[in-house]
Formats: sequence, C-alpha cells, structure tokens
Amino acid sequence: MTEQREQWGSRLGFILAAAGSAIGLGNIWKFPYIAGENGGAAFVFIYLVCIAIIGLPVLVGEVLIGRSSHRDPVGAFKVLHGSKVWMAIGGMGVFAGFVILSFYSVVAGWSLGYIIESYNGVFYNFQSAGDAGNHFGSLVSNVEWILSFHTIFFILTMIIVYFGIQKGIERYSKILMPLLFILLVVMVFRGLSLEGADKGLAFLFKPDWSKINGETVLVALGHAFFTLSLGMGAMMTYGSYMSDKDSVLSASLQIVILDTLIAMLAGVAIFTAVFATGQDPTAGPGLIFHTLPVVFTKMPGGQIFSTLFFLLLTIAALTSAISLLEVVVAFFVDELKWVRHKAVILFGLVTWGIGIPSALSFNKMSEVHFFGMTFFDVSDYLASNILLPLGGFFIAIFVGWVWGFDKVLPKLKSGAEDFFDKYPERITYWQFFIKYLAPVLIFLVFLNSVGLLDKIKTLFN
Ligand code: PFF
Repeated sequence: MTEQREQWGSRLGFILAAAGSAIGLGNIWKFPYIAGENGGAAFVFIYLVCIAIIGLPVLVGEVLIGRSSHRDPVGAFKVLHGSKVWMAIGGMGVFAGFVILSFYSVVAGWSLGYIIESYNGVFYNFQSAGDAGNHFGSLVSNVEWILSFHTIFFILTMIIVYFGIQKGIERYSKILMPLLFILLVVMVFRGLSLEGADKGLAFLFKPDWSKINGETVLVALGHAFFTLSLGMGAMMTYGSYMSDKDSVLSASLQIVILDTLIAMLAGVAIFTAVFATGQDPTAGPGLIFHTLPVVFTKMPGGQIFSTLFFLLLTIAALTSAISLLEVVVAFFVDELKWVRHKAVILFGLVTWGIGIPSALSFNKMSEVHFFGMTFFDVSDYLASNILLPLGGFFIAIFVGWVWGFDKVLPKLKSGAEDFFDKYPERITYWQFFIKYLAPVLIFLVFLNSVGLLDKIKTLFN
C-alpha cells in the first residue's frame, strides 16, 4: 500500500468508536424484545454466559487480527495466511455487514421518526398502553413513513463514512455515548419507581428454565455476537486502525463491559415499564416503541426526555451503522483500490436498496414469507444466528489453530506487556477458550438448534 493508513487519534478513540459500534439498537431495541420473546431471565442468563466465555475471547482474537494486519477482513486473512479459503471467510463477514445494515437502518428509521413524534407531543394523546401499540402499528404500516426514515438514516450514515474514519466517527462517539448512558440511568430510576416494577425485575432476573430450548440458545448466542458487533469483521476493521502500543486485551474487556451494562440498563428500564403498564413482553420488534412512550407521558418533563431518548438511540444506531458500512468500504478501498467516496456511495445505495423489502415486511410484504418468516426476519436470522456465529467460529479456529500461538502471543503482548508479566495464567485461559471452548460450544449450539444433538444422544441411549 502506498498511502499511509489512518489511525485512531488516541486509545480512547478506539474504545469509544468500538463501543459505539457495539452499543446500538442491539442493546436497546433488540435485546429487550428477544429477551421478552424467549421467556426473560433464563435467556438473559444464557446470553451473559455466551458473552463471557465466547464473546470476549473471540473479540480479543478479532481485534488482534485487525491490529496485526492493518487491513480489512479479507485483506487481513490474506496478509496473515494468504489462502483463498480464509479470504472467502473474510468475504462472508463483508456480506453479513451488508445484510445487517439493510434491516438495521429500517429500525433506526423508526427511532428517527419517533424523535419527531416525541417532539410533537403525539404520545400525550394516548389514553392507554394499547394506544401506543396501535400508533406504532399505524406508523410502520405506512409505506411512505417507513421508507422515508429508512432513507434519511441511510443518508446520514453515508455522510459520516464518506468523511473518513477519524474525523467522522471518533468525534461523534466521544460526546454522545456518555450522554446516552446517563439518560438510560435516569430511565432505570423512573422504571423502578413505577408500581409493579418488581414483576419486571423478576421477569428479567428469575429464570424459568422450561422456556429454554435449542433454538433459544442459538438466539442467545447469535445475539451475543450481534451486540458485540462480532463475527463479521467490524471489530477487525476498527482494530486495523489501532496502534500497536495499545492493549487489545483491556480494550476488548472494556467494550464488553460497557456493552453489557447498557443492555442490562435498557432491560431494566423497559421491563419494569412493560409490567407496570400491563403490556405484553412478547410484543416483538415493536416492544420499546409500544412501551416507552407510555412511560414518558407519565413522567415530569416526559416530552423532553422522550425526544432526547430517541435522538440518542438514533445516534447510537448511527455509530453502529457506520461500522457496518465501514467494513464494506474498507474492503473495496483496501483490496480493490477503490476511491473511498465511490465505495461509500455505491455500496450505500446497494445496501439501502436491500433494506427496502425489509421495510415493506411491516406493510405491503407482511404476507410474503421465506422459510416461514418475513424478509426482515429472514435477514436478521441469517445474519445474527448463522453468519455471525459462523464467522466467530472461524475467527476462533484461525487464531487458535491456523495462525499459530507462537505468532499470536507476541502480537497480543504488544501494548499489554505489564498484563502479560502480571497474569500469565489469564493468557493461558484465553488460549484455551479461543482454541477449544469457543469453537466447540458454537458447534454444539448449532447442532442443538437443528435438533441433531438430541438425535445423537438417543443413539447412545
Ligand atoms: N452491535 C450493534 C448493536 O448492538 O446494535 C449491531 C452491529 C453493528 C452488529 C456492527 C454487527 C456489526 F458489525
């Protein structure tokens, strides 16, 4: 490469941007709604276990691949290994990025639209919790509404990626993520003060194991990947702009902690409200849009809070969307030597187009099903529950078996010398987790979700 590659302005720049990628709709919109659909606490527990024993070790591996190669996902494997098979696996990540961004932008559009609803005080017209649900239903069934906000959100994402990594992403993440955190804390207190909040807490923290089956475990695992932006090269791409002087280990740990904290705060804020206002936790993708408006109207300064909340949620979605588009753009810029601006415009447009059937899944195409799901649900399922865990599986295999620990460990040590001296055993644990535990568990979850594990068990009985 002839051009000098950009790097983060500071260590904090990487953490905030990577946390900005991780923290998004996954934490605040998706986590509560899938936890609601999958029975609450038992699901939450499995999700947390997946984060700790699979997500964190794989995140370290993925960021390390990026930082060591300073390339996009396909180029990274090319530099570190050179075989076409591994490059194709990087390519699978780029493809997953396309798919996720296409439907992600639709939901981010809802949040964008809700800024305006809040600002106009629409929520004050609701007489009951049911009204909030009906209002959401009528908005998403309006083709113009849903497509306009999908489009506006996409344009915003493209503008930021167009202006390049450091100037665009870093500047925004630094101010806005802490603000989102503070607002969520306010909402947690608000939720806890509502009558009936304890039922929400019980739902979220008292497991009922009978709700768990192979499929729910796969959803929990898939979500662990989705929420950490893991398994498709986003963290690899961000890691590729990271300096060798920074510790991959501590950066990864901080990202995992921040991301999980935000999801749990969102969970508490939303489920206390769901139960206090007598709503249905299994309402699906509209859950937060059904629930939160009702809460906001009941609190002092609700209009300001709700406007600010949806504004920050949109921005959180934006910092994630940026990272999705960045994966695709980095690939075309690094590998195919495209001009950055051209890549942003072309692939922005293509991905926006693939998002249209997802937007129509809530209205004109709601009856069109693929494998029994709408286009929106298929996109989410394919990306979150198949491509990302599969990507994570291969990243673990690559780091644990292919790259070779003799090369991996010095790379990991760079920037983390003190940690290596102080806690050598933790490095050994990490090696075990990434080499054996993560790939085996991901494999078993896959088998289990298609019912194969049960069949194998009966063979031995
Ligand atoms: N982690 C993001 C969220 O939780 O909203 C979603 C996401 C972003 C997934 C980037 C994958 C990715 F590469």
